[in-house]
Amino acid sequence: MREYVTTAIPYVNGAPHIGHAVDYCLADTAARYFRLKGDEVRFQVGTDEHGGKIFQKAEELNIPVEKYVKENSDAFRDFIGKLNISYTDFIRTTDEAHIRRCQEIWKKLQDHIYLASYEGWYCTGCERFITEKECQENHGVCPDHQKPYEKIKEENYYFRISDFKSQIKAKIESDELLILPDFRKKEILKLLDDSPDVSISRPREQLKWGVTVPGDESQVMYVWIDALSNYITVLGYPEQDISEWWPAAAQFVGKDILRFHAIIWPAMLLGLGLELPKVIVSHGMILADGQKMSKSIGNVVDPIEVINKYGLDAFRFFFLRHVDTFADSDYTAEKFDEAYKNELANDLGNLVQRLATLAKKNNIQLGNSAVLELSTGYCELMDKFEFSKAFDYCWEKVQDLNKRIDEEKPWMLAKAGETEKLENCLKKLLVDLLQVNTELTPFMPDACGKIAEILRDPIAPPKVPLFPK
Ligand code: MSP
Repeated sequence: MREYVTTAIPYVNGAPHIGHAVDYCLADTAARYFRLKGDEVRFQVGTDEHGGKIFQKAEELNIPVEKYVKENSDAFRDFIGKLNISYTDFIRTTDEAHIRRCQEIWKKLQDHIYLASYEGWYCTGCERFITEKECQENHGVCPDHQKPYEKIKEENYYFRISDFKSQIKAKIESDELLILPDFRKKEILKLLDDSPDVSISRPREQLKWGVTVPGDESQVMYVWIDALSNYITVLGYPEQDISEWWPAAAQFVGKDILRFHAIIWPAMLLGLGLELPKVIVSHGMILADGQKMSKSIGNVVDPIEVINKYGLDAFRFFFLRHVDTFADSDYTAEKFDEAYKNELANDLGNLVQRLATLAKKNNIQLGNSAVLELSTGYCELMDKFEFSKAFDYCWEKVQDLNKRIDEEKPWMLAKAGETEKLENCLKKLLVDLLQVNTELTPFMPDACGKIAEILRDPIAPPKVPLFPK
């Protein structure tokens, strides 16, 4: 099978933070799981580089905007490399090919686009038009960015969402477009009912930094139209036939941007005559000590510092096991440290060390003979993108194996000279650990790669622990 996996492309108005890692780690786990099952995978990542927010920041810093976006895009590329994300395509929305393809997409949607004037609210932080009701509920101030909404009055192009509402609704209700988790699907269905047509351009006078609307130099595309298009422009749409990869197997997005992906994006795809993605996985937010992470509060955690201190496997371990796939989760340095020491180092690190040492001492080698199959319980959870639960499921097996060694006491069998029993016992333990290690590979590819080598041929168990405390 061919599977296409996507991530939300971050705005480049700052350095990558810990929250950005969530999309990458989840999507990478999906991509690696698909590959483990034998599928061929295309995996997009990239950077969202247009819009008022980015332009304003570059001006504030007095850096030419092109230079500013390039530097930050590079920082994201480095970060993705540090996380060992197995992507195949990196797209920048300032790529010339993307811009050209976006304009083609706009032309194809022309029948559903009209010009009208907009008078209302906008939040540059969210890059979103705000309804009167929402503005009133929030007393005129964006709760996420702590800035007053801007009142704007301008002539804009609108996209007629109403042309597609009933089709989108039917596809979401029937799970033809599966939105995970289910409670978010319900929220979207409610939101869809009241969704107005969306303004999809801004006058160039107001916003210089964006893709020009084809046929109207005075207008620039709304950043979300440009950004959402990336998922298909990166595949070469519209010049190339994308049916090998599209529809996407899974699109990963934070809950804060689900509405764009579950309403505007499907409407665009239907307008283009393309299929909708099979699944949109909407993850929760990482909070710092119960609060939203934000530069103004000053509680942003630098992911590079954490990786440098604990290593990448520990980082992925925490974010994929202790951060619930769908709900908001709190990050604290103490929680991280505890999970690392008590679970990763003690449960898994010690288990590998103990078994490899016993195998070496008793001259047991598995080689490449052991055939490993993914367990049904694991696949059921992974197929539903319940990654933190699948991780828990694997971890129970790791803990059971620790108990089994204590109960079966292979060192006693060695002492009693029960060679055959000893060999059987150790081989079984090695195979079972190797099996769960394979299932853990999509989560922690580096550590699991090393563990597989050690277990297959434990001639020299590592002198340095895999996860030093
Ligand atoms: N540029 C848009 C996405 C366009 S996709 C066509 C955007 N960028 S973002 O930088 O604000 O967010 C990128 C991704 O990071 C989103 O999926 C967002 O939900 C996620 N996160 C940003 N902060 C986060 C946390 N604190 N916790 C978890 N995910 C977070 O939105």
